Amino acid sequence: MKQRFPENFLWGASTSAYQVEGAAITHGKGLSQQDFINNNRSEKFGFADTSIASDHYHHFKEDIRLFKEMGFTSYRFSIAWSRIFPKGDHQVNEEGLQFYRDSIAELKANDIEPIPTLYHYDLPWPLVEKYEGWLSREVVEDFGYFAKFVVNEFKNDVKYWITINEQSIIVQYWTQKCYVPEKYQNQNQLRYQINHHMNLAQALAVKYIHEVGGLAGPALGYAPVYARTCKPEDQLAALNANDLRNFYYLDVYFKGYYTDAAFNYLKQHQLAPEIFDDDETLFSQNISDFLAVNYYDSQCAHACPEGADHAWSGYNLTGKKGDMSGFETHPGFYQMCPNPELRTTDWDWAIDPIGLEIVYRDLYTRYRIPFMITENGLGARDELTSDGKVHDDYRIAYLREHIAATQRAMGLGVQVLGYMPWSALDLLSTSNGYNKRYGLIYVDRTDDDPKTCQRIKKDSFNWYKKVIASNGTDL
Ligand code: BG6
Repeated sequence: MKQRFPENFLWGASTSAYQVEGAAITHGKGLSQQDFINNNRSEKFGFADTSIASDHYHHFKEDIRLFKEMGFTSYRFSIAWSRIFPKGDHQVNEEGLQFYRDSIAELKANDIEPIPTLYHYDLPWPLVEKYEGWLSREVVEDFGYFAKFVVNEFKNDVKYWITINEQSIIVQYWTQKCYVPEKYQNQNQLRYQINHHMNLAQALAVKYIHEVGGLAGPALGYAPVYARTCKPEDQLAALNANDLRNFYYLDVYFKGYYTDAAFNYLKQHQLAPEIFDDDETLFSQNISDFLAVNYYDSQCAHACPEGADHAWSGYNLTGKKGDMSGFETHPGFYQMCPNPELRTTDWDWAIDPIGLEIVYRDLYTRYRIPFMITENGLGARDELTSDGKVHDDYRIAYLREHIAATQRAMGLGVQVLGYMPWSALDLLSTSNGYNKRYGLIYVDRTDDDPKTCQRIKKDSFNWYKKVIASNGTDL
């Protein structure tokens, strides 16, 4: 039976600061680690850098007008720490703060619920110079100061706060999502140490959000892991992979402690983070209220012998199917592999709407928490055709199937607060610049030519407008 979405269901879409704003080191903003990382990627691979991105800093009113036209009732975006505190210390950049005041006021004036993320990969660069950023436990206090400041500033306008974006993905792709000096890049324990510091930082953010009566949710890049076969050893490998890739994060957010098997595996392989006695107390005293789910795909694993070499996740940089560079391998625990049962995008991401249904059902049973989809989408090379349009029927098909999966899960009692796919407008992909687009709104620029960043409504824009107008009944 088709489930109707509740009347107050939050329909919208998402972005993050460094991927859309531009004005990267102007208007008082300080350099962030993403500005630095993307400058290097620009030189190495020819992708755009963050200096202009989608120029949202100068187009935010026009963008919000387009969101309103689509019928958005929510918008998830992030607040760049280095725009508010350019040096990462306590010195405020008034102009940067005003930008977020104006953006939030504009959203509210259009009856769009602002849903800010406090951290989306963009640590102020001066903190990298001062103590190597997230590698140091000192960062927790600095993040706490920033989080408390922002939460207090916007406490009357914001109900739902997203704390930290995708810690699990930061562990997998640490040099892309975080600045890691070359001398540390083979010290893999540091991946989990960084994550531990982020757990402490996220717990502090939850504390400050609760102090002002807000609701807090971490955004987790979540891909359920299937076993490659029904052999018991592959089933066990999938259990291990889910423990280390998924529950290792969720248990901290929603139970206040690390998953035992995953933590012990890390200990046995000298990968476990150093933790202090009171750390898990801080976690258990600051439990999150909802989970912001970033769902793109599902994964697959099989058994792996103890003697295998450790390997970390690879990625496809070309957008040519099959160009995946490697699969995460934890000897004696699991090895990731492609799933032969599923279609994939050109970047080898499995397309699996039923996987989203599995996520909702499994996690609701385990944690009984509400969800909010804060990312879900299809990365593609969109083409602006001679009729001045973008015919992205592949994106419409993808989103339609995932909304339908959401409906089915809600029909069985799962609580979902809203659906905010990735992305509201085209933006700088974390892996592929403007070669890989996700937006409902096309931004007319290429990696090497920012042109005017003109906004053009894609076919998915008109389709989503109809979906929202019918409250999800006309898919
Ligand atoms: C998520 C991130 O991991 O995936 C986004 O939160 C990112 O910032 C999105 O853009 C898609 O990844 P990519 O590499 O295709 O841009």
